[in-house]
Amino acid sequence: MAKSADFNDRMLSLGLARVSEAAALASAKLIGRGDEKAADQAAVNAMREQLNLLNIQGVVVIGEGERDEAPMLYIGEEVGNGEGPAVDIALDPLEGTTLTAKDMPNALTVIAMGPRGSMLHAPDVYMDKLAIGPRFRTGVVTLDMSPAERVSALAAAKGCSTEDITVCVLERPRHEDMIDEIRTTGAAIRLITDGDVAGIIHCAEAETTGIDMYMGSGGAPEGVLAAAALKCMGGQIFGRLLFRNDDERGRASKAGITNFDRVYTRDDMVTQDVIFAATGVTDGSILPGIKREPGYLTTETILMRSKTGSVRRMNYRNPIGR
Ligand code: FBP
Repeated sequence: MAKSADFNDRMLSLGLARVSEAAALASAKLIGRGDEKAADQAAVNAMREQLNLLNIQGVVVIGEGERDEAPMLYIGEEVGNGEGPAVDIALDPLEGTTLTAKDMPNALTVIAMGPRGSMLHAPDVYMDKLAIGPRFRTGVVTLDMSPAERVSALAAAKGCSTEDITVCVLERPRHEDMIDEIRTTGAAIRLITDGDVAGIIHCAEAETTGIDMYMGSGGAPEGVLAAAALKCMGGQIFGRLLFRNDDERGRASKAGITNFDRVYTRDDMVTQDVIFAATGVTDGSILPGIKREPGYLTTETILMRSKTGSVRRMNYRNPIGR
């Protein structure tokens, strides 16, 4: 009998890549057109249409928002053709809507799939996040350390100077104190204007991207997506939910969360093996963006399975209008 973690992931992974590619292709004509909503909508429509072709009984656990806020790919929506394995799906059809609208780097389409119950139902609140790449002792850096302590601990573990560490941070007023403290260590900071899923994935390929550590607050749903990616690539992520008001606490309760102070590790957020796909929309350090040439659009997708640790990069040359 199939184990619960066996959800036909090997065969479904190619389908997942197609879903991710379709969302990226749909947003292609909206890159740099200043219309975030249209770009997001195009990606949502395409992702949903492709998901519904898959042989799955899928439920969206990380999606476009609550049912009353999002007409499609909302949390709890059933997707797939209703046959095949029961799976949970975490998605962001366009991670970096503003990046896409402004044609700035690192916009991605992102989707992860795992057996039913495999991913944290993170409410749409902020999460304090900390991530590093693979090959470090568990807990070498923690959320309880100060930003400067994290930099020193990682430098010691890498056997380098704190000046050789690069930290990725979302450029937000709420991060000003953290940025000032990181600067006292001499570490470099790569500031990003949006897109912390990509920011965190960058830690898993530090030699290529130049980013050793990610820290700061961003969307909790994006935290689960990043955890799914790191489960496949290796690396650590820690997250603690942040609440600004009772409405946000209510969202967490509704999602089944009882301990509001809990620090979630990668494997708390993603408890079983998953598959993960992301397609570049605009050029970035982890994936190139969509290329246009007369009659064709070309995408690159990273497709990964945590069970095997396999990481595939797939190019797709799509004839326009066929
Ligand atoms: P979108 O995909 O909605 O554009 O979100 C982009 C993003 O930058 C996420 O990557 C990040 O987690 C979140 O927004 C940060 O939220 P805020 O802009 O409120 O700081």
